[in-house]
Amino acid sequence: LNYHVPRTRREILEILLKGLLRLEYRGYDSAGVGIDGGNSKEWEANARTIQLIKQSGKVKALDDELTKQQDMDMDVEFDVHLGIAHTRWATHGAPSPVNSHPQRSDKNNEFIVIHNGIITNYKDLQKFLESKAYEFESETDTETIAKLVKYMYDNRESEDLSFATLVERVTQQLEGAFVLVFKSVHYPGEAVGTRRGGPLLIGVKSDHKLSTDHIPILYRSLRYCISPAGKDKKGCPTLPRMEQDTCHTLFAEEKKSVEYYFASDASAVIEHTNRVIFLEDDDVAAVTAGRLTIHRIKRTAGDHPARAIQTLQMELQQIMKGNYSSFMQKEIFEQPVVCVTLGGLKDHIKEIQRCRRLILIACGTSYHAGVATRQVLEELTELPVMVELASDFLDRNTPVFRDDVCFFISQSGETADSLMALRYCKERGALTVGVTNTVGSSVSRETDCGVHINAGPEIGVASTKAYTSQFVALIMFALLMCDDRISMQPRRREIIQGLRVLPELIKEVLSLDDEIQRLAAELYQQKSVLIMGRGYHYATCLEGALKIKEITYMHSEGILAGELKHGPLALVDKLMPVIMIIMRDHTYTKCQNALQQVVARAGRPIVICDKDDYETAKSSRRTIKVPHCVDCLQGILSVIPLQLLSFHLAVLRGFDVDCPRNLAKSVTVE
Ligand code: G6P
Repeated sequence: LNYHVPRTRREILEILLKGLLRLEYRGYDSAGVGIDGGNSKEWEANARTIQLIKQSGKVKALDDELTKQQDMDMDVEFDVHLGIAHTRWATHGAPSPVNSHPQRSDKNNEFIVIHNGIITNYKDLQKFLESKAYEFESETDTETIAKLVKYMYDNRESEDLSFATLVERVTQQLEGAFVLVFKSVHYPGEAVGTRRGGPLLIGVKSDHKLSTDHIPILYRSLRYCISPAGKDKKGCPTLPRMEQDTCHTLFAEEKKSVEYYFASDASAVIEHTNRVIFLEDDDVAAVTAGRLTIHRIKRTAGDHPARAIQTLQMELQQIMKGNYSSFMQKEIFEQPVVCVTLGGLKDHIKEIQRCRRLILIACGTSYHAGVATRQVLEELTELPVMVELASDFLDRNTPVFRDDVCFFISQSGETADSLMALRYCKERGALTVGVTNTVGSSVSRETDCGVHINAGPEIGVASTKAYTSQFVALIMFALLMCDDRISMQPRRREIIQGLRVLPELIKEVLSLDDEIQRLAAELYQQKSVLIMGRGYHYATCLEGALKIKEITYMHSEGILAGELKHGPLALVDKLMPVIMIIMRDHTYTKCQNALQQVVARAGRPIVICDKDDYETAKSSRRTIKVPHCVDCLQGILSVIPLQLLSFHLAVLRGFDVDCPRNLAKSVTVE
């Protein structure tokens, strides 16, 4: 939303579409935009109509559609303008223009809304609205929100109902998870955004220095009782009145240029500003006449009375592909740089050391990082360690106790299943620890303490560098847990030495890229690939198979070699591609047995092994030789060939590596 920044319609659309392109990795089934219609010189007149343009497919398709719009003057200039845009990952209703967002209240587009999440009571709301003669055009849950806001507006009791209050009332009727941004012809130049269970931030771009670094919360119930003494009637501390007033009119009184960017994550705004406000659940943020206010209905214990304007460290270049053909390829090659530090745990480490059990909870690739490090965590902490898929953990109502420490591993820090598990564990009094790549994310804000893995923005939907950084972070945590245990020192030294040499060894594995590309050329027309291993490398099998499934759409299964004879061996014949991981660690002999069993069934395995393991090479059709490292870190070196293999397979099969069909990077719905 621009305020006192003259922009042409063309520029406004460019900003919106560029933002969508940066967010495309979150969903790319369809996209849409809602902007002020009309071609008048008066922005306010234009803002009395809304033009919606929507298209299925990627943002590029929407861009093409926009160029066909004949009736919009692209050079008309706006002093104040609000546009909203959305790229969708379909949950309710197939990808199509009518199901894409913004959704609208009626044929005149009086209210439009974009939504991330799922409204669980939408059927009840729809039934109610249909009884009031509203006609629905889409199959989405979101359309009920657009209609509900109009219903509440049409039935308002007073003329001066603010947009923020209206939205607040609407959200009180909604169940489920949502991030919403609204625009309306009845509130020209105004934006309202709110969240519950998903991320929303506001970027603030201004030519002048902001006179505050926080925006105080306006509590509806406290609006008239903020005292200058810094306490409200209930005795809760508030910001002094003066400060509140200054903040309140910060942008409007100066009449200077300011632009606000509401977005799901920072990558959409970073090229405009690095100053952002992260909203909390149930915040209602409104921009009216250039003034930003954040409301909450009521104060609850522990609420922070203001939202800070934070300065992000992210650089634009981090979210650009550079010379790589895809983000995934770039991210694979960024792996030698690992910058994990454990500063965020120091205040809680004593408490963690006293716990009775560690539970690692995550989804997808992040779950595999837990599987990969479980053994060394058990070894160095001598504690029972459970590794749980968040959805299953919740389905089972797993018992959690006050003396448990629960880790939430999440690249995005926004995965709905992991967040719900986090809240579940908090309610039961466990100490919660976040392992995330996203500063300011829900996981990092809601956990008691945690680690930022600092892998830099990961944009390719298939996770690569986040996995290896999560892996390192968990190993470093295991080392920290036993730093004063004399008996553990030789093992600690061995692992620390392994961490020191790891970046060089990763580079050596990456130099196998050409060889792996040739292997991909042999395999890319196959239907299925089995990946077998055990011990430290079981996680590599699961992760390798997930990479192949995600981006090549080939069937792939990660198999625990110990289970081979209990079923999977039936799949082995001379045609089935089998990849085995056999490293010189305590499972070596058992892996050799598995290799012999595969060979005995006419299988011709491709083996990832230590570079001087000639024995294994003899029984293999082909080997991928990786350098040797300490056993518990070897999984980082064994997974990289599979990341590269999946990448080359997907390229050869002609698929979009960064945006695999049906998937999204950050799954903020259950
Ligand atoms: C999605 C992504 C996966 C990711 C998983 C967990 O399914 O496509 O790549 O591993 O979510 O995401 P998180 O951000 O919690 O690590």
